Amino acid sequence: MTNENPNPVVNVNFSTRSNGAIAIISINYPPVNALSGQVRSGLVNAIESLENNDKVKVIIIRCQGKTFIAGADIKEFGKPATEPFLPDVVNRIEACTKPVIAALFGTSLGGGFEVALSCHYRVALSTAKVGLPEVNLGLIPGAGGTQRLMRILGPEKSLEMITSGRHINVKSFADSSLIDVIVEDGQSGLTGLDKVGTVDKIDKLDEATIAFASQLIETNHLTPKRIGDLPVDGAAFNWQQAKVAITKKARGKLAPVVAFDVLEKTQAMNISNGMAYEREQFLMLRASPQSAALIHAFGAEKKAAKISNTATPLKVTNVGIIGGGNMGSGIATSFLSANFKVQLIEQTNEALEAGLIRIKNNFSNNVKRGRMSQQAADSCIANLSGSIDYQALADCDLVLEAVFENIDVKKELFKKLTEICKPTTVFATNTSYLDINAIAQSISRPEQLVGMHFFSPANIMKLLEVVQADKTSEQVIATAMQVGKQLKKVSVLVGVCFGFAGNRMYTRYGREIQQMLLEGAKVEQIDNAMTNWGMAMGPLAVQDLSGIDIGHSARSAQPFPEHDKGYFRAAATMVEANRLGRKTKAGFYDYDEIGKKQFSSIVQSLLEQKAKSLNIKQVTFSDEQIVQRALFALISEGLALLKEGIVQRVSDIDVIWLHGYGFPRYKGGPMFQAKQLGRDVVKQQLTELRESLAKDKANKIWPEVDMEVFQTLF
Ligand code: 3HC
Repeated sequence: MTNENPNPVVNVNFSTRSNGAIAIISINYPPVNALSGQVRSGLVNAIESLENNDKVKVIIIRCQGKTFIAGADIKEFGKPATEPFLPDVVNRIEACTKPVIAALFGTSLGGGFEVALSCHYRVALSTAKVGLPEVNLGLIPGAGGTQRLMRILGPEKSLEMITSGRHINVKSFADSSLIDVIVEDGQSGLTGLDKVGTVDKIDKLDEATIAFASQLIETNHLTPKRIGDLPVDGAAFNWQQAKVAITKKARGKLAPVVAFDVLEKTQAMNISNGMAYEREQFLMLRASPQSAALIHAFGAEKKAAKISNTATPLKVTNVGIIGGGNMGSGIATSFLSANFKVQLIEQTNEALEAGLIRIKNNFSNNVKRGRMSQQAADSCIANLSGSIDYQALADCDLVLEAVFENIDVKKELFKKLTEICKPTTVFATNTSYLDINAIAQSISRPEQLVGMHFFSPANIMKLLEVVQADKTSEQVIATAMQVGKQLKKVSVLVGVCFGFAGNRMYTRYGREIQQMLLEGAKVEQIDNAMTNWGMAMGPLAVQDLSGIDIGHSARSAQPFPEHDKGYFRAAATMVEANRLGRKTKAGFYDYDEIGKKQFSSIVQSLLEQKAKSLNIKQVTFSDEQIVQRALFALISEGLALLKEGIVQRVSDIDVIWLHGYGFPRYKGGPMFQAKQLGRDVVKQQLTELRESLAKDKANKIWPEVDMEVFQTLF
């Protein structure tokens, strides 16, 4: 074997089969063989040199490491693009006069899948996945992906794949000509081939790909099969219906709608004109604020998982969960789904039985909704046991409590656990607001206590706040972050304060919404303004759903902020009128028999009376004013969190809001919004809000902008 290519990440070797007529282009660019400039130029150079090599009849493109090309190189985003550009690379591959075969394994994504589509054949391991996830970055495929996929799969399946961004297992394409050979993973040999023996998966894929190449040579099938030459079969497709469905599902996102437009407009064009239009639209999206926000969100999530401490996490297998209510059972479901062994503890046999049923119901729902097979659900449930005896927790590696929010109850509980559990057990509390330092002070092993704050429903919501108390050891923090990763959560490390990062900001957001209600903004107007702006739900509809009394009682445990006379008075007014939300069929809205929400004139008059009694003048709001006040309240509180060191980095705040509170991903998060608005606008608007809404000089609600912290945003 000889390497004829000096490029450090793209090597060329020759198979010993077929007298060296099979050339193998091998990409080695860890971690995911992304399409960096070096990879792109290496590919073009290799194709050109092999095309001119008379000995070579067939070319294979394969990757080393854990995956075929997983897309454009994220590290190059935001930098000026360098030649060769990806469309030129894929066109060069497709134009090659010798057959080119892609050997797929792992995840062939975005530009990586576009490279595969430009090859003339595709051989894939049965576990391989392919996808065009560009929409998740606010983009569409920009190197022929829309054009070649539509030619080989037809418009319907292509649109589904491009607008969802889903990674799809290659077996789903068994009835199309997208994949030419699927190599069963786990088999020890392949029909018609030499026995493979005990080789790793990639060797097996290489074997099968080389065998396929040999077959092309032996049967003299050496004319390249170019997808770009195929016509689009779109006549029978109902484009109008698809447009309506895609636009509705996009909910404000541009990229899926643009993807539809590109497919519809180019269906009758040749590949070259189609690719030119695709590229134009790709470049338009690449310059859009939505794409910038989505790329920010992607990077912010990757950063959030990183912590500065290098302690080795403890191994966690057995997990104890105390409390089988909605939260505890959701958390247990999450652990079981990640193959942990779970011991559920409740106070009585009846409560335990109810908790176990809740967990089993969560799994039944997963099966019903097609999220997992019955077999997978059964094997998760087999790891579940329950007890009313705390001694059952003695050997647990991690014990997490999800009991009633009362600090004395929690202190007692952890005292008991330190007596029962083995010396290395990590203790975690799921408290949403309570002072974890105060709990830690009351136990003999404070360094082993950490906050693990899940969001409801815990088996669905991705966010996990890992709360570091003053004495929590580095190893315990590393363990909690590692467990979060195993649970497939987006974990963010935060410090202790009332509500930690997420709920503290949520309280500030809620306060502003409530204040605007007293100042004359209407319930529906607030909810509509915020959802039209992109929030997943209106803030008042959320309160009705979660129960107005829940937040009210958490706030009641805190001293009333005298400087803020309207502080959550609207919610208190609802609680006094026994309008607790959906559960009482009355909250900020009225609810009919089937749970449909309706405007409530009673609420309107209750709020007007309350405003009058507090001497708050009612005015008319525009939707823009509502959004501005709510957003700037978040930005202002985010700056305070940064100043106090509650979060590690500014982008962590965005991650929390994207995954815990329904902030529109295509807007990147509240702090990214501030960045996009720009230093001058943010400073001016925060100052104006401070001045126009300040009734006392100290103005604790809209504090002065701290310039040092403010700089970290930009
Ligand atoms: N470029 C550079 N690095 C990448 C990368 C990419 N496209 N994708 C992932 N990585 C890096 C990650 O940052 C991480 O680095 P780290 O170890 O230093 O933190 C490492 O690869 C492993 O990533 P994960 O922890 O996410 O590993 P997983 O095994 O869980 O997932 C994956 C691997 C499925 C490839 C996942 O990382 C992923 O989905 N990546 C994004 C892929 C993507 O969106 N590609 C399309 C880009 S758009 C495009 O190609 C079109 C173009 O025309 C613009």
